[in-house]
Amino acid sequence: MAASFAGKNVLLGVTGSIAAYKTADWARALGREGASVRVVMTGAAGRFVTPLTFAALTGHEVHADMFAPAGAETIPHIRLARESDLVLIAPATATTIARLANGLADDLLAAIVLATRAPVVVCPAMNCAMYQHPATGSNFSRLAGYGYRLVTPEAGAMACGEEGPGRLPEWDAVRESLLAALSPQDLAGRRFLVTAGPTHEPLDPVRYLGNRSSGRMGYALARTAHRRGADVILISGPTHLPSPPGVETIRVRTAAEMHRAVLDRLGGTAAVVKAAAVSDFRPASCADQKIKKSGPPAALPLAANEDILAGLGRMKKERPGFPLLVGFAAESRNHLAEGRRKLEAKNLDLIAVNDILATDAGFGAETNRLLLLDRSGRAEELPLLSKEEAADRLWDRVASLLASSCQS
Ligand SMILES: Cc1cc2nc3c(=O)[nH]c(=O)nc-3n(C[C@H](O)[C@H](O)[C@H](O)COP(=O)(O)O)c2cc1C
Repeated sequence: MAASFAGKNVLLGVTGSIAAYKTADWARALGREGASVRVVMTGAAGRFVTPLTFAALTGHEVHADMFAPAGAETIPHIRLARESDLVLIAPATATTIARLANGLADDLLAAIVLATRAPVVVCPAMNCAMYQHPATGSNFSRLAGYGYRLVTPEAGAMACGEEGPGRLPEWDAVRESLLAALSPQDLAGRRFLVTAGPTHEPLDPVRYLGNRSSGRMGYALARTAHRRGADVILISGPTHLPSPPGVETIRVRTAAEMHRAVLDRLGGTAAVVKAAAVSDFRPASCADQKIKKSGPPAALPLAANEDILAGLGRMKKERPGFPLLVGFAAESRNHLAEGRRKLEAKNLDLIAVNDILATDAGFGAETNRLLLLDRSGRAEELPLLSKEEAADRLWDRVASLLASSCQS
């Protein structure tokens, strides 16, 4: 099951930073993804944003006082600690971080963090000198030692006029950390190389031969593997997608550039998953100048690009311990037969076949329906899933193939 916020109780702790207003939007974003969000504010946080903002956005009362009158049967900090599936502290001030590092329970938020068994994600936000102070640094180390996830702040211009690290990170990076905190870390210690997107083969300085691949499947693979603890390198053709937080993304343009990047980064990888739609052909030559409307060429001769995956398959035959090879096949008919043929011909360990004619799967769609074929002859037809769910199912298969290759 892909990690998601649906049905999760998320406790958002807001502390007294100038960035507190930003996390009001995060409370909404979590709610939109199906989480029930309870907000706890420190006394200082209330000087920056009102509890009313968070109460209105989450639809729940905001908690701030450890000693607020409550029913005899409830002790608020223990109840909130127990009810939470996930605790997010954002923004986290230097003071709150020091409080948590020392295990204090002298305000409601600190007491909840000490009492909870849920994963804790901390988003520091502070002036760069405060962030770089050794006292703050040693507090971060202590929080990491408790198993809390720290989201690295961004560097840039600050509200105080200084420039440096300490800015509250963007929601995409925080969202990834939260999903990672909800995911099993079963791919930790593994490095994977994933390719994604189309390639653009230049015809002249402005035109190219390309295809309709959006890159979504490969990016979903990179994100989901990273959430499960893997070290991921994403080699991406031209796409409009943002680089997944925490994933080393190498952007390339042509099939030849992608080929070089794959060979350069192969060392130390446990598996190569090639979800890119690499162009089979390129224009035989690329004009130095833009081809004029008045002089269109009578024909566009094409040259074949090297099949990157088939090349890796050949290398695998000669090198024991070569990474597991996973390919994607975009087919319009005879999916099973074509998938099996490519699995054999390219010497792959696993192939995911998708139907490029389906409107709800494959190129450009948000969802995919994959047929997974492996060397043992096993064929698994996955239902229509979001690309992230499909990616998670593919990693399940990669994890079990890696486990069985270790045993054999
Ligand atoms: C305008 C203003 C902005 C502040 N911004 C931050 C900040 O971004 N990060 C931080 O660590 N402290 C910041 N502080 C200081 C904290 O509000 C102060 O340390 C407070 O005690 C934090 O308490 P808390 O952690 O219980 O919320 C700011 C103070 C002021 C007056």
